[in-house]
Parts: sequence; structure tokens; C-alpha cells
Amino acid sequence: MLKKIVLVVGTRPQIIKASPVIKRAEQYPELKLRTVNTGQHYDELMNEVFFKEFKLPDPIVNLRVGSGSHASQTGKMILELESVLVSESPDVVLIPGDTNSALAGAIVASKLGISVAHIESGARSYDMSMPEEINRRVVDHCSKLLFAVSRACVDNLKKERLDGLFTGDTMYEVLSSLLRTLAPNSACDSVFVTLHRPSNVDNRETLSKIVSELCNISEVMRVVFPVHPRTRENLRMFKLESLVKEKIELLDPLSYEETMRRMLASRVVITDSGGLQKESFWLRKLTITVRSTTEWIETLGLNRLVKPQDIYSTFCLLKDAGDVPQSSEYNPFLANRPASELILNTLSHLNG
Ligand code: UD1
Repeated sequence: MLKKIVLVVGTRPQIIKASPVIKRAEQYPELKLRTVNTGQHYDELMNEVFFKEFKLPDPIVNLRVGSGSHASQTGKMILELESVLVSESPDVVLIPGDTNSALAGAIVASKLGISVAHIESGARSYDMSMPEEINRRVVDHCSKLLFAVSRACVDNLKKERLDGLFTGDTMYEVLSSLLRTLAPNSACDSVFVTLHRPSNVDNRETLSKIVSELCNISEVMRVVFPVHPRTRENLRMFKLESLVKEKIELLDPLSYEETMRRMLASRVVITDSGGLQKESFWLRKLTITVRSTTEWIETLGLNRLVKPQDIYSTFCLLKDAGDVPQSSEYNPFLANRPASELILNTLSHLNG
């Protein structure tokens, strides 16, 4: 019997994460997968551009909710999604990641009695000051199918009496398919930076400290920084933009491929993103994560968690460290079959 699946995305990382599932679903005649875009990210470079890059079919609707406080953004999505899900009446609502779009999708679907399936289930930073940590927990507890990217995520779910299914990581799938076409880069002579977490960029003092650490690094190595719109706005508001521009190569948000190319060409990656920590680990890059916790504990070692005031000193330690081992047999995220295949197989066998 044909199963109807509605996939809910709305932000850059969700579109990337879901892309292998959307594409592979075409090989499953018993599944009809349609995408709803909440429009949480509304800049073309943060949203539509990825549908084009991954050659994904257009979403059935873009709700264009845009930004706002967490309550108003999530509230708008809940209202809009309810009417879409009532009229679509899917068997399953598929939700990747931990954004407010994921939260809204899980709440609406579970209240309508529709089964929820969560991609990247079981990730935990155990830091409830992160909006994503709240979202993940709610989404997981609303879900019938919990697709976990690593064994550690399955264990996290067990502690909450939830049953996760280890599928491997769709993000790893996206990266490994790109790596088949990318030439290795031997230069590795720059520092690649991304920062967007409210805890780092919404406070003038913290952002100024981070900027001054990055400026110090720029005296030693070229710093390349594609800027998230939230960060761009705050650099402007805190009057830091002109200082940064003098020392650092500021770019607009990049395509997925260009991001990976630039990371490959870097010596050190500095980030506060969840996804980039994994990608940087898979690319065997030394990583400075400007956070006090991580949900991706497997990356620790290559990845250091640092406070804003320790960015430059950590960079100095890392730049003089020996060569990074280029291959690793041990890949905690990798299952022996593509994650998207395991996810779709499970969905096609789901009863009721
Ligand atoms: C969201 C996710 C975060 C994810 C990140 C990736 C939540 C709670 N957070 O954070 O988990 O890592 O996306 O980017 O869902 N803005 C624009 N244009 C856009 C999008 C945002 O200008 O296309 C600006 C707005 O000024 C807005 C701010 O960025 O105030 C925040 O956007 P929002 O979607 O609320 O959260 P992100 O910080 O992007």
C-alpha cells in the first residue's frame, strides 16, 4: 500500500541532512514523499539555494514564517503546519534535526495522531540553555521512529527509555558522495570560521572578544569567514564590521560544496555549529569549537571545546602540532549501508 510521507524542513542544515533521503525516495514506489518548507531560513542563500544544489524537487509549499522570537516563530509554524498536515493527511511526518521547524513539525503531527520519524535522533549536549537541546528532547519523545546517527545517540535514548535505531548519518552520506568528486587539497594554509550561536554572537562583549581573537589569528594565517545573517547583523549593530573586514575575509553564506572545499583547504576550523563539527572531523581537520559542550562526543580529540578568550592560544597550539593523521579506520558515524537506505527501508515496512 502507498505510504504518504511529509518531510518538514526549514533551515539550511535540515535541507542538507534530508537531501539523500529525498533523492533516494524516488527508488521506493511504495513511498510518496513530499517536502514542506517552513521558510524559517528565508534568505535564498540559506534555503532555496540548497534545493538547487542537491537537485531536489520543489517543496509542495513554503510557509515563509521567517524569524521572530522562539515562541512566535514556532507558534506561526505550528498554526501553518496544522492546516498543511490536515489536508495532506500523511502516514508519517519525517523530521530531520533539532531546529524550531523540527519542534513545530513534531508537535503538530503528534497532536494530530500522525506517526513522527526523527532523523538525527538521540543527540544530546545536556545543556538546556541551547534551544536545540529542548527541541531534540521534545521531538524524540513525540517520535515513533528514532533514527540515530551513532551508537552514542542510541545509548542517550536508552537513558530516556526510548528505543533508537542506529542508521548512520545522512550528513556523512552527503559528504562522502561529494568527496568522490573533489580533488584533495594539499595547501591547508587558512583558517575557516563559522559562528552563529546566540550565546556567541548576540552579546556585544562575547562577540567583540571572539573578533579580537580572530584578528590575532589573522596576523599569522589567512582567516576565511562566511557569515551567517544573524552574525552579520550583530557585527553591524555592535560596530565591529569594519574592524573585521580589515583583517578577515568575510563572505556571504556559501553553498555546501564551496563550504567543504574551503574546509579541505584549511589548517584549522573554528566553529560553533553542530553539523560542521562532524564534517570537520570526517575531513580530519583540527577543530576549535567555541562552546562548552558538544553532542558529537566522537569528534573530541581532533575537536577542542574552548571559551572565546582561549581561541587564539588554542590555535597557536594546534598550528604547531604535527600532521593530522589523514585516514581513520574508526568512523563512529558510519553504518555499512547508506543511512538514507536504512531510513527508507524502515519507513516502507512501517505498519499503521
Ligand atoms: C537555526 C537553528 C540552528 C541551526 C541554524 C543553522 C533553531 C532554534 N536554530 O539557527 O539549530 O544550527 O539555524 O543556520 O532553529 N536570519 C536571516 N536570514 C535567514 C535566516 C535567519 O537574516 O535566512 C537572521 C534573522 O535576523 C534571525 C536570525 O538570523 O533573527 C536567527 O534565525 P533563526 O532561524 O531564528 O535561527 P538561526 O540562528 O539561523
